[in-house]
Amino acid sequence: MRRLPPVLLEDGCPRELISLIRTILAACKEISFRVGQGALSGVLGSTLDENIQGETQKKLDVLTNQLLKDILLESGYVKAIASEEEDYTVAGNPNAEYIVAFDPLDGSSNTDINSLVGTIFSVMKAPEGSDPADQSIFMQPGKSQVAAGYVLYGPSTVLALTTGKGTRFFTLDKTHGSFLLTQDFAQVPEETNEYAINASNQRHWQPAMQNYINDLMAGETGPRARNFNMRWIAAMVGDVHRVLCRGGIFTYPTDTKDPNKPNKLRLLYEANPMAMLIEQAGGIASTGTERIMDIQPDAIHQRVAVILGSKNEVETCLGYHK
Ligand code: F6P
Repeated sequence: MRRLPPVLLEDGCPRELISLIRTILAACKEISFRVGQGALSGVLGSTLDENIQGETQKKLDVLTNQLLKDILLESGYVKAIASEEEDYTVAGNPNAEYIVAFDPLDGSSNTDINSLVGTIFSVMKAPEGSDPADQSIFMQPGKSQVAAGYVLYGPSTVLALTTGKGTRFFTLDKTHGSFLLTQDFAQVPEETNEYAINASNQRHWQPAMQNYINDLMAGETGPRARNFNMRWIAAMVGDVHRVLCRGGIFTYPTDTKDPNKPNKLRLLYEANPMAMLIEQAGGIASTGTERIMDIQPDAIHQRVAVILGSKNEVETCLGYHK
């Protein structure tokens, strides 16, 4: 089986970018080990703190953030990092070419129940001559990402990666510590009978999403004239992985539950990298009104509505938003 570095070299991926991706993956291997140790490693449960998003931090959020931050900044390959768990961006090597945004442990509450979690990352180029301490270097739309991916810590540890030449899956061979290519050019099926949404928020959604989901739930006797199945892992990384593997539509729409937080998912380190992986696999990623990767960010922790997955189903959903 082919290992990750030769696959990327054959694609013509710059050596510096390959080294950066390998650095991220070195941290992910360590995270895979720690997560796999579960209660044995004494890192389950919460800290007494909240992160910048006002969410309770898990001990593993703190540990995984520190691991990624240290390894990336020490590597010399990054000009700056932005993390879901950091209030501000952190400056790195002023001469480096790349910047990295990451969610160190997406879906971290799932660690309490030994369910899926993952690390999501997005790599962009820093503007030439930019100051590593200037947060505005991250204010680039998702279409300028040069690489995006996630590492899913499940029964096996799987990397989904794109450098703009398709989406591939690599599986961590834990005996040798290498990521081996297990699927070249993943394709999201255009049609699907499966949707993913936290339906407990239904009464807070806008009318377009209410109508769309009602029509799916009406099944074969409703306007869609067929039955749909629902799945919800409560970790975007797990839900998006399922969509990449067998199709589906995943959405976390705008809602009115908390007027200060109309959207839940973060643009820089959740929506953008997932949108790139999905588009590179033939799917669509939108907010309901615009392509996610066209959004010009105005803050590092900005949140957006997300509707992504199988082309035909996402287009149908977007039809309700017109
Ligand atoms: O980052 C937020 C997140 O954990 C996503 O990974 C996931 O899709 C979502 O929140 C789950 O939300 P809820 O708690 O509403 O199920």
